[in-house]
Amino acid sequence: MKICMVGAGYVGLVSAACFSDFGWTVTCVDKDPNRLADLKAGRSPIYEPGLDDLLERNIKAGRLVFTEKLGPAVADADVVFLAVGTPMRRGDGYADLSYVFSAVEEAAPHFNGFTVVTTKSTVPVGTSREIERRLKAKRPDADVAICSNPEFLREGSAIQDFTHPDRVLVGTDDDRARDVMERLYKPLALRGSPVMFVERESAELAKYAANAFLALKISFINEIADLCESVGADVQQVASAIGKDRRIGDKFLHPGPGYGGSCFPKDVSALIRTAREARAPVSIIEQVERVNHERKLAMAIRVVEAAGGSVRNKTIAVLGLTFKPNTDDMRDAPSLVIVPMLQERGATIRACDPQGRRHAEPLLPGIVWCDSADQAAEGADVLVVVTEWNEYRALNLEALKARMTGNTIVDLRNVFDADAVRELGLSYSGIGRGRLDAAKGEANAAPVQTALHSVEAAK
Ligand code: UDX
Repeated sequence: MKICMVGAGYVGLVSAACFSDFGWTVTCVDKDPNRLADLKAGRSPIYEPGLDDLLERNIKAGRLVFTEKLGPAVADADVVFLAVGTPMRRGDGYADLSYVFSAVEEAAPHFNGFTVVTTKSTVPVGTSREIERRLKAKRPDADVAICSNPEFLREGSAIQDFTHPDRVLVGTDDDRARDVMERLYKPLALRGSPVMFVERESAELAKYAANAFLALKISFINEIADLCESVGADVQQVASAIGKDRRIGDKFLHPGPGYGGSCFPKDVSALIRTAREARAPVSIIEQVERVNHERKLAMAIRVVEAAGGSVRNKTIAVLGLTFKPNTDDMRDAPSLVIVPMLQERGATIRACDPQGRRHAEPLLPGIVWCDSADQAAEGADVLVVVTEWNEYRALNLEALKARMTGNTIVDLRNVFDADAVRELGLSYSGIGRGRLDAAKGEANAAPVQTALHSVEAAK
């Protein structure tokens, strides 16, 4: 089986590396000369655990080739994957499909024999049909079938996700394409991953629905976390209790500073626009987008409050900047909102991140860059955990405290044991960890009083 992967971004590169590791021959095409130079030299342009080894092994075996020449790769392929970017379009929030359509136009003259063309990037409902229309107009004689095969991998665990997916989803209405895709994914089917064949529109929409649902789950638990703080409950206990119900499930119930990354924000936005256009608005998802935006602002305010109401002339140590751990990706990271808000209010930021500095540096000017959490804590009034890199979990907090000027820790990812931190004499603010202060009875006083008042009023 010969594959042409158009686009060596996150999804394209990981998919190309994993398909070649199954034994298929993959030609990965990209236009970016720097990226290509890295890849041809066997270097991964992105940080993704396990990817370097996979690239090295398959390039050496001759199964994985990188090139800028689309034509010959398309002519030779049984399957052409479109894995180019579909960023959020400026101004209107729709998915920008210009890279997808220009790849299709460029590939059109080269199809040779029956070829499956399939989207791998997340594309709005109707894109497969539009690709088909454009191809028919340009090459009416081409023997092609257009499919939708969305990818559900997560950054940081991309290889594991690709090779052990909960399901592979293929949207097609063509029997020959179904045979080709069945053969292509046989290695995963044999391992027990279901390969589902559905309508193209269903496959396209399922990807957006999945991401929107996960975004909703995160926003839900973030709001429950706020409620926990007001009433003296612990969100981790609540999440674990509701997560045991298999109808809810225990994944994606970690509260934090709001979701970020290359997918959730753009896909939530695109789904909202698609739904409005189809006159079937997804109002619940519109709320999710708003709640998540406000969440990031609220986290900066939380730091200001923890610093005593003002961060002017204060030093804030920030641990972690990437949108999540195990990636160097800064796209839509909560730090991009939190850090500038603190700087605008007069704070000096000392920050560290195990992988993010290269991408974060141009986006977050004016930071004092540090190589480690210890270094960042030097002279800090407040220490804030923004991204839950594993190496922050076992930090020696006593040593950190000795380096700090202040004694406040704001843990936006709940990586520390709240009681242990407090025992060290540090002031600790986590997410959704409301504490009933028995002596004062303050944490939960307001809602209970309000409820009692309304009972009184009703009498
Ligand atoms: C996501 C989807 O999970 C994946 O299926 C899709 O293909 C691409 O988008 P990714 O963006 O790599 O993957 O990261 P993910 O692990 O899903 O996290 C997204 C964001 O949600 C991060 O900012 C993360 O910190 C946040 N998150 C996730 C939470 O705040 N709480 C959670 O419980 C889970």
